[in-house]
Amino acid sequence: MAILVTGGTGYIGSHTVVELLNLNKEVVVLDNFVNSSPEVVGKIKKITGKEFKFYELDLLDKEKLQKVFEENNITEVIHFAGLKAVGESVKKPLEYYSNNIIGTLILLEVMRKYNCKKIIFSSSATVYGDQGVPKYVETMERGKTTNPYGTTKSMIEKILEDLYISDKEWGIVLLRYFNPVGAHESGLIGDNPNGIPNNLMPFVQKVATGKLPELSIYGNDYPTKDGTGVRDYIHVVDLAKGHINAIEKLNKEQTGVYIYNLGTGTGYSVLDIVNTFEKVNNIKIPYKIAPRRAGDLPELYADPTKAKEELNWVATKNLEDMCRDSWNFAQKQNK
Ligand code: NAD
Ligand code: UFG
Repeated sequence: MAILVTGGTGYIGSHTVVELLNLNKEVVVLDNFVNSSPEVVGKIKKITGKEFKFYELDLLDKEKLQKVFEENNITEVIHFAGLKAVGESVKKPLEYYSNNIIGTLILLEVMRKYNCKKIIFSSSATVYGDQGVPKYVETMERGKTTNPYGTTKSMIEKILEDLYISDKEWGIVLLRYFNPVGAHESGLIGDNPNGIPNNLMPFVQKVATGKLPELSIYGNDYPTKDGTGVRDYIHVVDLAKGHINAIEKLNKEQTGVYIYNLGTGTGYSVLDIVNTFEKVNNIKIPYKIAPRRAGDLPELYADPTKAKEELNWVATKNLEDMCRDSWNFAQKQNK
């Protein structure tokens, strides 16, 4: 009885594999390293002292994927594998639709063939779009997405719902992540994107290490407490633990479709991040105010009540933990 983790050497996947191994779960990991590196496999083993099977494999390779199911008794899948850069998805829509949608369809076909019908899918707060209010609750309709990446998330949610309508043996959890930041306390795994980062915390990390000269804050004239954008930042270890609760939920309910926000419920501004990072790490983050970034909303955060009530999950780490662990990880990297 093994849990297959697709995209398991990526940022959130690797932290989730650590949590699963810490609970002595049997884990099988696959990844094609399009956005992660083989070293992560060894790092996970070092953190946990546990072994697991790893397959270097592209989800689009159906034959190889079938072999994974033939060689292992997979009972649940946690599906992280996907491309995730918003800006890149606008430039490369075909690559995003192909990788994310076709990759998921192939995975689901193979799961069905091997009678494995429990899946947890990495969705995103982006599927809410602009609701006109900052606090997102699962009862809201999926909104209008503004880029191909977000559209793939919205489409995959719908595909999974349709799958359940067609076959009530499926058990499906859609987890809508807010803004994952931070790193494992060992500093061995974390978020280390190639090139110039798009997301706030990896950018702050690069400024802190001196690899980039200053942060551009995209707008200080939003209708927020200090004029800068507000998001619900969540520590990646809290997020990873949410997947354990989701697996437990699936094993309790067996079938159905369940949707949960995974966020803290608290919004912090860009300046909150900069100030807290400076304070806890005793380091200066030079910044300038730049124009607003196209497509950004002023403020959004989760209503995490449903995850608390139904999954018995709450985020436990605070902004200081997020900033300290991000910096600890950044200092241990060489790119
Ligand atoms: P990540 O890029 O670090 O991890 C994704 C992993 O999937 C990578 O290791 C990549 O190599 C692998 N992958 C991609 N396509 C693949 C394929 N066809 N076959 C096999 N492996 C493949 O990203 P992450 O931040 O860990 O995100 C994990 C999931 O969560 C993604 O689906 C992402 O869209 C979603 N998500 C992330 C965020 C965020 O801000 N990080 C927010 C909401 C949702
Ligand atoms: N920001 C800056 N400067 C930067 C980067 C970001 O000021 O260099 C600001 C943004 O304007 C925003 C905040 O920091 O106000 C957070 O921006 P991120 O790019 O870190 O995150 P987003 O909220 O824009 O997007 C994230 C994920 C998406 C996901 C979305 C869901 O990157 O994949 O959350 O809410 F779809």
